[in-house]
Amino acid sequence: LDLDIILAEKRTAFQDYLAAYLTSREGTGGIWEACAYSLSSGGKRLRPILAMLACEASGSEAALSLPVGLAIEMIHTFSLIHDDLPAIDNDDLRRGRPTCHRQFGEASAILAGDALIFSAISVIAEADYSAQIKADLLRELARAGGVDGLVQGEHADIMAEGRTVTPDEIRTIHRQKTAALFELCMYAGARVAGADAETTRALTSCGQHLGLAFQVIDDILDVIATPDTLGKTTGKDARQGKATMVGILGLEEARRWAQQATDTAVDCLKGLSGTAVEALRTLTAQLLLRVM
Ligand code: IPE
Ligand code: IPE
Ligand code: MG
Ligand code: MG
Ligand code: MG
Repeated sequence: LDLDIILAEKRTAFQDYLAAYLTSREGTGGIWEACAYSLSSGGKRLRPILAMLACEASGSEAALSLPVGLAIEMIHTFSLIHDDLPAIDNDDLRRGRPTCHRQFGEASAILAGDALIFSAISVIAEADYSAQIKADLLRELARAGGVDGLVQGEHADIMAEGRTVTPDEIRTIHRQKTAALFELCMYAGARVAGADAETTRALTSCGQHLGLAFQVIDDILDVIATPDTLGKTTGKDARQGKATMVGILGLEEARRWAQQATDTAVDCLKGLSGTAVEALRTLTAQLLLRVM
């Protein structure tokens, strides 16, 4: 049983599903061109993979979570396009290619981000889920993405630039801008599988701590990695005065922080068993290894 193979299979399953979706929209033209550019460029596809694993961990076929996984990847891609805009992080490189605004101009990038939010809603609304499941997914997607989640976190991230912030403030920003979507992935996988309340709680808590670890790991990578391996510009958080754990605690303490959040994430799974749960543990550990 090779967990790396399982993860690779999940990634391929998502890539195939995305490719079919992109093909179905071929010839749409207009703003979709910029959406498709950002959506189809390489990414780790971590969020749909998490949804698939959560779905399998809840006793269903991973494929059941592909539509909602695509919707979440669309929300994630919208957040990256807008995060890269000159008014936000002002980045030129994303997923190894010019950022959306570099390629299509700022107006198109803003609108492509906007459009992807609506595409995400459409994908869920048109999926083969029951009316109740769709309502639950859309409610949680709106919660994770909006004024209590990602968009608020991005706003707080910008407002914190150049200010002195506490670890607690940073944790709140990370919870909103990053962990909310990780939680959503786990919730979504569990929900489409019809998981019981306890399983759903365990998986979403795991997602939250994994998301918290993930952002600190991303901030460490900004310091220690190269644009070649990351596919995005590095060293810019310090330049832009970003509020990060690395910035206030230093590299070593930030590593320890990420390690602790990772341990907590794995701990949340202790009541669950099976291959998909093992794969979740492996994936969580692998993400941390990138900075250790
Ligand atoms: C980048 O996310 C944004 C953060 C939340 C740090 P990913 O590192 O998952 O980006 P892709 O999808 O692999 O490009
Ligand atoms: C937040 O973090 C990303 C989003 C929630 C969109 P960063 O701004 O550090 O993400 P990268 O490093 O640009 O991918
Ligand atoms: Mg940012
Ligand atoms: Mg950024
Ligand atoms: Mg970053």
